[in-house]
Amino acid sequence: MRKWLVGWARNSGSFRQKIRSKGSNRQYLWRAGEEAKLALKFSKDYPTVASISLAALRGNFDLFRKHCGPAVKICPVVKANAYGHGISIVAPALSQAGAEIFAVANIPEANELAEIVPDKEILVFSPIQGANAELTKALKRNYHLTITDMTGARAMAEAADQAGVVGRVHLKMDTGMGRVGALPTVAHDLIKFVSSQTQLCLAGLYTHFATADETDLSFAREQLSCFNELLSLAPEVQLVHSANSAAMLAMADSHFTMVRPGISTYGYWPSRDMAEIKILEGLKPILRLDSRIASVKELPPGHTCGYGQTFRAQRPTRIGIVPIGYADGYRRSFSNKAVMLIDHCPVPVIGRVSMDQTIVDLTDQPQVQTGHIVTVISEKRDDPNSVEALAELANTIPHEITCLLGRRIARQAVVKF
Ligand SMILES: Cc1ncc(COP(=O)(O)O)c(C=O)c1O
Repeated sequence: MRKWLVGWARNSGSFRQKIRSKGSNRQYLWRAGEEAKLALKFSKDYPTVASISLAALRGNFDLFRKHCGPAVKICPVVKANAYGHGISIVAPALSQAGAEIFAVANIPEANELAEIVPDKEILVFSPIQGANAELTKALKRNYHLTITDMTGARAMAEAADQAGVVGRVHLKMDTGMGRVGALPTVAHDLIKFVSSQTQLCLAGLYTHFATADETDLSFAREQLSCFNELLSLAPEVQLVHSANSAAMLAMADSHFTMVRPGISTYGYWPSRDMAEIKILEGLKPILRLDSRIASVKELPPGHTCGYGQTFRAQRPTRIGIVPIGYADGYRRSFSNKAVMLIDHCPVPVIGRVSMDQTIVDLTDQPQVQTGHIVTVISEKRDDPNSVEALAELANTIPHEITCLLGRRIARQAVVKF
């Protein structure tokens, strides 16, 4: 059951709100807001709410700390609105848990994050391509910026010179991912160039694994040994990092001086293979998604539901409309397959999920009326509508399920579920 409503945040972080824990006067985080007014707006405008458990988030971070040991920095990856969970809730909570540095995808995300946790360091993954006003601002804010080629390195040196600062460079190496990153053949020249520039400081060296979430780790191990060889080119560099969630959990020798867990910060196993191994006992999903039944009605046998008539009632059928659809990230591939939970009982999704609405079969739940709470996504891993179960249903990974949760869903912090 939900305990202690403690805060409210809209996805973009444009509304930030104090968080209060019941039973103590502890005031957490953020600018004080007009709680009552926002709560009213929330219920009127946002029928669907993602509750984010601060206890689970904190618990996951503490588990990583124990797993990696005190010498390794933990850099939670909070790009894409903290994988859909709400950056303005997640980042301050992780900051309080002890995170000193966060990773995001690009400079606009870094700018948003810097307003939320101004005293923390920020690593930007996307590589610098050219000198511009945005880069100058990023340099002045002392972000850790990624370089993958000489064009980016030169642009950063020039921009740092103009800004009158020393830019913090992280050199990203492609050791096998075949995406962004410098190939090992150019590593030597790049490191030499960065080291020769007084306006640049080589603050980090990193790589990213393609298969660390698989049972067969042989390719990940090849990447790791390639990365280890490159490290000898820059023995002084302070932040050496390679581990995403999967490698952090499964490859202790990939931790170096920093790890970059994304998906497991939010409580999910990076893949089905890893879910079966359960390397870290105690990892907890931090999100539950609740909505309210918007309307209820009876359909006679033979009546069909939704676009394409993909469901036909075989009996007198009571249907409920849940105001969430694929525009909110509740995927169309859940049509006629997923379930939601009402009063802890599964209710089947019937017919096609449409853009804003989903139909559930309430025939076996006669107590349910308009306004009744329906759990669209459960925080309990073993429930049939957990993030991981829905990912399985959609033949995807948990990352995609949470990242797609849309702007019409309110995010609220709860102390715990
Ligand atoms: C460079 C880099 N590091 C770490 C991560 C986190 O990965 P995961 O969410 O699988 O832990 C990502 C995610 O895409 C990434 O791009």
